[in-house]
Amino acid sequence: MGIFKVNPAQLPEDVRERLGEHPISIRADSFLGLVSDQTDILHLVFDLLTPHPELAEGSLVTTEINNDRVVYQIVNATVKERGLDAQSVRGVLSVEAVKLGKWTDAGPEPVKWVPRPNTPVFLVPPKGAAFDLSTVGVVPRSSVYVRPDINRMVHHNTAIIGVLGAGKSTIAYQIIHRMIREGINVLVIDITDQYSISLSHLFREDENRSRTTKIQMAIAPTVNRVDQSPERGGNIVDFRRALAEEMNSFMDGEDRLWIVNPQHFDVTMQEGRPSGSAAAFRHLSMVEITKHVAEAALTKVQADGLSESARLCIVLEEAHSLVPEFNSAASKQDQEAAVGTARVVMQGRKYGLGFLVVTQRTANVSKSVLNQCHTVVALRNFDLRAQEFLEPYLGPHFVRVLPTLEQHHGIVYGPGFNLQQPLLVKFWDYEEFKNAALEQWGSQILTERGVGEAEVAEENLSLDDEVPF
Ligand SMILES: Nc1ncnc2c1ncn2[C@@H]1O[C@H](COP(=O)(O)OP(=O)(O)OP(=O)(O)O)[C@@H](O)[C@H]1O
Ligand SMILES: [Mg+2]
Repeated sequence: MGIFKVNPAQLPEDVRERLGEHPISIRADSFLGLVSDQTDILHLVFDLLTPHPELAEGSLVTTEINNDRVVYQIVNATVKERGLDAQSVRGVLSVEAVKLGKWTDAGPEPVKWVPRPNTPVFLVPPKGAAFDLSTVGVVPRSSVYVRPDINRMVHHNTAIIGVLGAGKSTIAYQIIHRMIREGINVLVIDITDQYSISLSHLFREDENRSRTTKIQMAIAPTVNRVDQSPERGGNIVDFRRALAEEMNSFMDGEDRLWIVNPQHFDVTMQEGRPSGSAAAFRHLSMVEITKHVAEAALTKVQADGLSESARLCIVLEEAHSLVPEFNSAASKQDQEAAVGTARVVMQGRKYGLGFLVVTQRTANVSKSVLNQCHTVVALRNFDLRAQEFLEPYLGPHFVRVLPTLEQHHGIVYGPGFNLQQPLLVKFWDYEEFKNAALEQWGSQILTERGVGEAEVAEENLSLDDEVPF
């Protein structure tokens, strides 16, 4: 049977009674329709009876399950035909929404049942949400904020996945500010050299450069060292020693951010026994250097003992170049190195070492690394293989939304957001976030240089205030 148009005042008595029980039903304009066929435990389907101008992908709707008000997020709408025979067929809009749960102050709580047929569905009234620095963003057209749990984000490893230019690095920048605020050290492995420009206020450039320079100076003299034992030839041993020293000084020192470009290190290994005083050398790839950096980090955190809280996060920017999937690796050595880094991801957790993996090509990133990322930030994505990878995390409905996600929107999931189901989020504008972070957290996150800049900005502000008109 099809229902084509309903005026709430004309609804059956029992439905009207139920409407009266819902706080939301007080708003006559928020009634949308009734729970219809195809609704199941995971998702809600309803025919749209009262269109609402603000209804859109990502909007929140609500219905009742066993007296609990349960919230769903709209992920699709389909035009369908309803009617008993050819004469009475009419087109209706059938809306699909994914269950988020019962809303509590801490976020959605799972509800493990379905709404009864014909239960009314309401739009959670669209509201604007003011910027809130303690959150990463808001559910579109609502005032439902999304709060990160940075410690768990690091502890359970996080992946940021999206197409070129989707905003992956910008989300990583935001998260890095938050990690530093929590007192977590962040080591970024970045072959794009973007982070040192974008995050220049978070570290002392001379310190960062001096770490790189010290390692370079320690390895330069022995780049062609020949040794009777091939494993001692080249500068790999010096590289590992210098790396360990810098890792210790970073973890024990005052800086919270260290940015490393593996391409800045010329690391060599001797290939085979020497013939006379000459030997062949191999230059380590960035995949291998990444493994050595990760191992040095693990050695340091292990020496510092077990830790319930996160102490160090390694950011793998363009992770497909640093921890390639087995069949995307350029060489056998790279395959082994990626396995080595994956082992560090596995072992680091107990010692407070976690990873933030940033990539546009999930197919080419080591699955042993990606599968250990329990928190996911999925941005716009057209790649079928990425969608395939994300489906177990996000479910089929949210995966379908990925290609059409707007700029600055993403689907987040996992312990790093205290979410047991995915949620479509609109992230804060980065500039707004950064300005608020510098203003409110300045003393905790800024380097001396950054603090200087903030003070100058404040001075300018007070000068402006004094202008007498
Ligand atoms: N939340 C945001 N607020 C403001 N601007 C943003 C936001 N997210 C992304 N942008 C802007 O969008 C552009 C692309 O973002 P970004 O460089 O982070 O994307 P990406 O996915 O890392 O790209 P690539 O694949 O090239 O590495 C940048 O100019 C960035 O400033
Ligand atoms: Mg990027």
